[in-house]
Amino acid sequence: MSETNQAEERAIIETVLGYCDNGGTHLQPDVMQIPVTEYTDPERLNREIEVLFRQFPIIVGHASALAAPGDFFTHNSTGVPMLIARNRVGEVKAFLNVCRHRGARVEQQPCGKANTFSCPYHSWTYDLDGNLRGLPKDTNFGDIDKSELGLVALPAFERFGLIWVRPSPSSAPVDIDAWVAPMAEQLESLDLKSHVVFKEWAVKREMNWHIALEGFQEQYHFCSAHKNTACSAYLDNQGVFLDQYPHVRHAVPLAGIEKLKDQPKDEWSYRRNFMTQNYLFPCNFVQSMTDHVYIHTIIPTGQTSCIFQCQMLIPEAANTEKAEKYWQANYNVVQEVFDEDFVIGESIQAGLNTGANQHFTIGRYESCLQMARRSLADALAGRLKV
Ligand code: FES
Ligand SMILES: [Fe+2]
Repeated sequence: MSETNQAEERAIIETVLGYCDNGGTHLQPDVMQIPVTEYTDPERLNREIEVLFRQFPIIVGHASALAAPGDFFTHNSTGVPMLIARNRVGEVKAFLNVCRHRGARVEQQPCGKANTFSCPYHSWTYDLDGNLRGLPKDTNFGDIDKSELGLVALPAFERFGLIWVRPSPSSAPVDIDAWVAPMAEQLESLDLKSHVVFKEWAVKREMNWHIALEGFQEQYHFCSAHKNTACSAYLDNQGVFLDQYPHVRHAVPLAGIEKLKDQPKDEWSYRRNFMTQNYLFPCNFVQSMTDHVYIHTIIPTGQTSCIFQCQMLIPEAANTEKAEKYWQANYNVVQEVFDEDFVIGESIQAGLNTGANQHFTIGRYESCLQMARRSLADALAGRLKV
């Protein structure tokens, strides 16, 4: 682990132990108000899609989905049909999954292995770099320049065992390393590259996407919404939020952390004593538990609905019955906990248009909501660029 990350984690532990001694917790300077129209205004949603889901890279999966050359998967939930593949020399490539002849979706399968992609309409065929390799009966098709009719490429990156794609082909450059820099050392230390996917799932829920996102941005709700599930595992309403603009590291201490007071600092383990909810702007979380990690992606599918996609990553394949049972039990718990959040989220949606609230009031405890709202406002105003 890098010294910077170690110093950051030691400082987080010291902060929490200080809170335990003095009865404090992490606070923002003031309350924040969020206008309810930010959840209900269709023009706002269009702008969010156009900016947040077209101009910024988002995590689309774990690198193991593209373990070998020729492996591919498709991705449609942003509203942009995308095809993501590993080419012959091992690079991750992403394309608009749209045929250059007359626009049909080229690859239909959710995932698979291929040497070439052949469009179902008239069988134009593309290679793993998106080049147009051939078309049936091409002698009399007419005069075309095949080199100009390859699949349209999207910026794609593989970092820390995760795959990022910007769902828009615009020529604006993406400096992914600068973008993830504030979190790079922490993400590197998780060693996600060597992890494997234990489960992945996607659920569509009836709530504006911000409501789903906000469920992962504070721990103030744990001991009411998750009274019989997550509450007892953590210190009540304790958390440390590091503003890693535009991202946020949100460290939530486990219930037994106070025992570290009796240990020498160089024996402290951050990982064994925290759950970390890393918000990666605009729509991802890397949620690190003591021994495994969840990658969340939340994408609007309409004004009042969103899709929640999750991958559960474990350090090595569950090859024994005992391991399988252990990870399955963890999976069952998160399903229950996330469902508790989503049921409440759908109830928020149901009340949004009642006029009961003109604003939501975000308390000083709810730091990641406040920080994330600033990043969102900056992006929508054009002040934040990738
Ligand atoms: S639309 Fe794809 S080959 Fe015609
Ligand atoms: Fe929750």
